[in-house]
This record gives sequence, C-alpha cells and structure tokens, in this order.
Amino acid sequence: MSDRHVQDLQHPRFARFYTAISTHAEAHGGAAHRARLLAGLTGTVIEIGAGNGLNFAHYPTTVTRVLAVEPDSTLRRHAHQAAQRAPVPVEVIAGHADALPGPDAAFDAAVTSLVLCTVPDPAHALAEIGRVVRPSGQLRFYEHVRSDKPALARLQDLIAPVWARLAAGCRPNHDTAAVIAASGFAIVSCERFGFSPCRFVPRFAHIIGTAYRP
Ligand SMILES: C[S@@+](CC[C@H](N)C(=O)[O-])C[C@H]1O[C@@H](n2cnc3c(N)ncnc32)[C@H](O)[C@@H]1O
Repeated sequence: MSDRHVQDLQHPRFARFYTAISTHAEAHGGAAHRARLLAGLTGTVIEIGAGNGLNFAHYPTTVTRVLAVEPDSTLRRHAHQAAQRAPVPVEVIAGHADALPGPDAAFDAAVTSLVLCTVPDPAHALAEIGRVVRPSGQLRFYEHVRSDKPALARLQDLIAPVWARLAAGCRPNHDTAAVIAASGFAIVSCERFGFSPCRFVPRFAHIIGTAYRP
C-alpha cells in the first residue's frame, strides 16, 4: 500500500465534524441502522473506512475477528478507543480501499458503511473487496444514495460540488446499489429509507443490504 495515498486521505476538520454528528446520530436512529447492518454476521470480517468505529459496538459475538481499515488518522484514533469497548476482537489499521490488506479470500465478510460514497473509485474498491472476501462470502453495505425522487435527485446533483468540498470528497448523488451490482456482487437484500444524522444535514435516501460474492 502506498503511504502517500493514506496521506492524501487525511481530513482532520471533517473528522472532527463527523465524529460529532455521527455520535449524535447514534442516539437518533443511527445505532439501530448499524445493528441491522451487522445482524447475523459470522466469522472473520474486514471493515473498510471504519471511521470513528461506531459499528464496532454492534458486531454480533458470532464474529470472531474484525480487521478495521481506516485512512484518516484522527478518525482512526477514535476507532482504536471504540475497539477497546467492542464485544468482539477488533484490530484497527491504517489503509485504504484501493489496496486492502490480506491474501485473496481471507475474510468471510466485508462491511462498508457510509464509505462507497467517498472512496475515489468505488468500482476498484469493490473489486478489491471481492478479492479479499471468500467465494460465497458477504458484503454488508449501509450507504446514503441518490434519491429515487427526481426533484430530490436534482437537488443532490446541485449541491454535489459544495458537498464534496465540505465532506471530504463525499458524493451525495451516487447510485451505489448499481455500482455494487455492476461489480459482480449479487444483492440479495436492499432496504431503502430516509435518514438525517442531525438537523443540519438533509434527509438523504439510505440503503442497508447484503450482497454475496459469486
Ligand atoms: C462518512 S465516514 C463513515 C465512517 C464509518 N464507516 C461510519 O459508518 O461511521 C467516511 C469514511 O470513509 C473513509 N474513507 C475515505 N476514503 C477512503 C478510502 N479510499 N478507503 C477507505 N476509506 C476511506 C474516511 O476516512 C471516513 O472514515
């Protein structure tokens, strides 16, 4: 993995903002979404872009190990603390989605939450996820996505450039389910709902789902 790439993914101001709003969101619906995202997982898991580690508390004890990859050093510091309190063993390391650690087929499952909107090349990231997840292993995803209401989707298009600047490259108008399907993962469930982490952030469409690696 290139250290230069991890260096390019440092956003300390966004990291502080995200830590505050995501912690607020936990108490206002976020925790329930994360619990649903991870319910029923077993075995070894790689979590990509783990942020401040808010998923860790929600891993079922049937998970034997989580390897959490996070490029941003501010968020990673919070993730290390969250790992101490997790109900399952969690190791947090520096890294990014373009070059995941581990040999082919090393994990039973991968988790992305609110990440594929931000990684620069989601198709490449999904190919890399497909490399490290074993055949018939799972991808669990929780992402905010392009609205299926045309007026809202147009609004997302309109705010996208400013949004990306404020939110560390996040694209608010991405059809992430389509990108997952195009990557070769077979989506078997995809729940769609509206959610806002706090009153300053628009109520974007979100998806939570499961896909299988062929
Ligand atoms: C909105 S935060 C979500 C954090 C966490 N997954 C959650 O559910 O709260 C987006 C995360 O994606 C990470 N990220 C950005 N680019 C990435 C990349 N190329 N590879 C892996 N993670 C990346 C950021 O550092 C940040 O932690």
